[in-house]
Amino acid sequence: MVTLTVNGESRSFDGDSAMPLLWYLRDEIGLTGTKFGCGMALCGACTVHVDGEPVRACLTPVGGLAGKKVTTIEAVDKQKIGQVVQAAWVEQQVPQCGYCQSGQVMSAIALLSTKPTPTDEEIDLAMSGNICRCGTYPRIRAAIHKAAKDLAK
Ligand code: FES
Repeated sequence: MVTLTVNGESRSFDGDSAMPLLWYLRDEIGLTGTKFGCGMALCGACTVHVDGEPVRACLTPVGGLAGKKVTTIEAVDKQKIGQVVQAAWVEQQVPQCGYCQSGQVMSAIALLSTKPTPTDEEIDLAMSGNICRCGTYPRIRAAIHKAAKDLAK
């Protein structure tokens, strides 16, 4: 039995401890905002936060999350930083097909949590694990700068 917190709610899981967190989120508790991309932690589409750190849910076993706090895209608007990042994403019209974008937003929030005014290079480095097949990288960068500015107000 594993007890973890997902988006502020305590959850108990007594299934296969090797089940990837992504499966648990999507198939067991219906949080489908986090996407399956490559299944090998290479594309970033499944990025969520565990205790505030960005992790790839596709290769994170639920069994290792006892006592941890998981945050998904569904709950980022509960905090100011998430609201500001999402607003910047909308304003800059970042998404194209949208598939990668919940992972992008999760990585952007994690970046701005530790580096409130990142440079272009720091943005590119922090976001390098999040692939966008539509090539929205320039708008992602612009949205992160915009969010950084708005968070500093
Ligand atoms: Fe289509 Fe990024 S918006 S993959």
